[in-house]
Amino acid sequence: MTLRKAIFPIAGLGTRFLPATKSVPKEMLPVVDKPLIQYAVEEARAAGIEEFIFVVRPGNRTIEAHFSRSPDLEDNLRRRGRKAELESIISSCIDPAKARYVPQDRPLGLGHAISCAQEYAGDEPVAILLPDDLIRAPAPCLVQMAEAFGRRGGNMIAVMDVPKVEAPRYGMVEPGHRDGRLIEIKGLVEKPTPEAAPSTLAIVGRYIVQPGVFRHLMRRQPGAGGEIQLTDALASMIGEAPCHGFRFEGRRFDCGAKIGFLEANLAYALSDSMIGEEARRLVRRYASGEAVSSAGGR
Ligand code: G1P
Repeated sequence: MTLRKAIFPIAGLGTRFLPATKSVPKEMLPVVDKPLIQYAVEEARAAGIEEFIFVVRPGNRTIEAHFSRSPDLEDNLRRRGRKAELESIISSCIDPAKARYVPQDRPLGLGHAISCAQEYAGDEPVAILLPDDLIRAPAPCLVQMAEAFGRRGGNMIAVMDVPKVEAPRYGMVEPGHRDGRLIEIKGLVEKPTPEAAPSTLAIVGRYIVQPGVFRHLMRRQPGAGGEIQLTDALASMIGEAPCHGFRFEGRRFDCGAKIGFLEANLAYALSDSMIGEEARRLVRRYASGEAVSSAGGR
């Protein structure tokens, strides 16, 4: 089964990053020089995705503008001989025939956002990427998963271990048989208390799901936080389709939180070929306290 389509649910209000996210979607915040959504699209492309379904805030066209050609800017860069920048903005565009921008009219949760994409997802397996989970890996996370999915099919969810006290921030997995990076999933629970968490295995925002998920999403009642949860729909499919966790190789940054976002910027900046060396010098200065005392508060 080949994977051709991906859904990017990006209609969230980005409350934790206000006021930055008042008019700009959280997924447009940059890690060094690229917005989060572009990292996710590049990961999807590497996994062979050809059709991109963005579930966006109604009336907000920022994401669409980002992935569309920009003749004035391109002309300007061409005239000034800025070849690298020109290439980078052209190569990041998506053929408009391959991109859909679907509004999520009400903030009813991740499961509801996914169901908004049903019309375009069709009757085939689809990948779901949550761009605020930024994953740095030797092979992109979705590439790793697509390879395993080709062998196993069913529903597949990226997972990683977290401290049990953090269970209320995640969907948590009840694991069964383990086979290398694959873990049979026997149950799923969205944002349990640490005591109720069935393990320390947490869901990370990469999924490959069967089209049957839409039927289950339709039937879902609001779950954790009063929202329609993707986790609940996937849990109700256990028994109907194989369900596996995939323990990916790589490092995940939680860019939905300020500290995770800062850490991602540090990690990417420190290993950047252009600014890495200077960034390392800066970090040393701040770590030694020398720069902090002269910078003052904000
Ligand atoms: C969502 C999912 C959750 C998952 C998390 C990963 O939660 O509902 O199961 O563990 O993403 O980032 P959110 O972070 O949107 O509250």
